[in-house]
Amino acid sequence: MAARPPRPKPAFTRNLKLEKDVPPPFANFAKYVDPSGKLNFAGKAVLHADGVDFSSGNSYKINMAELELREELGKGQYGVVQKVFHKPTKVIMAMKEIRLELDTGKLSQILMELDVLHKSHSPYIVEFYGAFFIESCVYYCMEYMDAGSLDRLIPYKNGVPEDVLSRIAFSIVSGLRFLKDELKIIHRDVKPTNVLANSKGEIKLCDFGVSGQLIQSLAKTNIGCQSYMAPERIAMSDNAAYSVASDVWSLGISCLEVGSGKYPYPANRYDSIFAQLNAIVHETPPDLPHDRFGPEAIDFVRQCLQKDAKARPTYAELIVHPFILKYQDHADEIDMAGWVQGALEWRQAHADELHQLKNGGGGTGAGSSPSSPASNHGKGFGLPNSLRDMMFGRRQ
Ligand SMILES: Nc1ncnc2c1ncn2[C@@H]1O[C@H](COP(=O)(O)OP(=O)(O)OP(=O)(O)O)[C@@H](O)[C@H]1O
Ligand SMILES: [Mg+2]
Repeated sequence: MAARPPRPKPAFTRNLKLEKDVPPPFANFAKYVDPSGKLNFAGKAVLHADGVDFSSGNSYKINMAELELREELGKGQYGVVQKVFHKPTKVIMAMKEIRLELDTGKLSQILMELDVLHKSHSPYIVEFYGAFFIESCVYYCMEYMDAGSLDRLIPYKNGVPEDVLSRIAFSIVSGLRFLKDELKIIHRDVKPTNVLANSKGEIKLCDFGVSGQLIQSLAKTNIGCQSYMAPERIAMSDNAAYSVASDVWSLGISCLEVGSGKYPYPANRYDSIFAQLNAIVHETPPDLPHDRFGPEAIDFVRQCLQKDAKARPTYAELIVHPFILKYQDHADEIDMAGWVQGALEWRQAHADELHQLKNGGGGTGAGSSPSSPASNHGKGFGLPNSLRDMMFGRRQ
């Protein structure tokens, strides 16, 4: 009998490299794992109080009872991110708590929408393992990135060297492109706290707007300093106007911060949040430092930070920008893991200073607490209309 032809890979994984040298995290849990080593959730998610069941094909559910809480990894606007140990699989995960006052129907819809993540794999996106809810909290379990987010690593040497920035920019653009092309998703919250690194030197995106319902639910409670937002988002009252180009702006601001080690519009330079937002909307954005970055890197950021959203490059254009191509051919020689290691050691050696900065509110982005009033970290989806009108006049 003729051998069966191999099953075609789903379209979205066809062009992606899978890690070959690392055993998949669920290798010891074969019953639930497909041959690629990924959890296979075929069919629709079914929600119940203990977790999420995926009704057909292989199924797997995660619930709180199976998790052992380890240390806190960080705090965001909606809750805590904790390192957890999933006892049945022995996999370390990051669990994000999102506090929401929602009815069961909305929670159910959020989890159904999150299901799309089970079907998506990219080396530039953190893996999603599962979610469940308890009372008014959604718990979202994802790949644990052992070096944390970029904001924690960039105080080291006042920002990353040019070759490392090029690889980080490549990873972010690749991740954003994957979300857009394969999942039809706009990230909506690109910033250094949402770009994670691990000790292998991999860079991956998290916290993208996969769930429209979740975005809507969060938006209601989310007002504050929104410093990674594109000028058109700050100045316009209609959130529906959000487009990919706004993420490209946020990518530019993030590259500027990661390259220079500093958030480019620090709160302590402005008298008020209005003055700060006004600068974002009206002033020419700063360049990457000319003494450490070449013309290609400077141009990459300038292109992203054009005030006219339509003039900003697409991901297809950015991925072949001279700043990306400059390091593409010898990407393997760039010691990303070494840079991550150096940054982690630096953090450990400066733990006391960083702790003080966090509690005192440094306000430079790097090392400042997301919850401190002086923090510049972007918070949100929109200014209240009254404030926006006051600052920028109503736009139709
Ligand atoms: N998968 C992960 N692995 C390791 N650390 C993580 C992971 N996800 C998040 N973190 C850490 O937890 C912190 C808090 O994350 P969270 O998404 O709640 O807030 P944020 O992104 O810092 O800010 P905001 O709430 O304004 O979006 C992050 O800054 C990051 O350092
Ligand atoms: Mg985040």
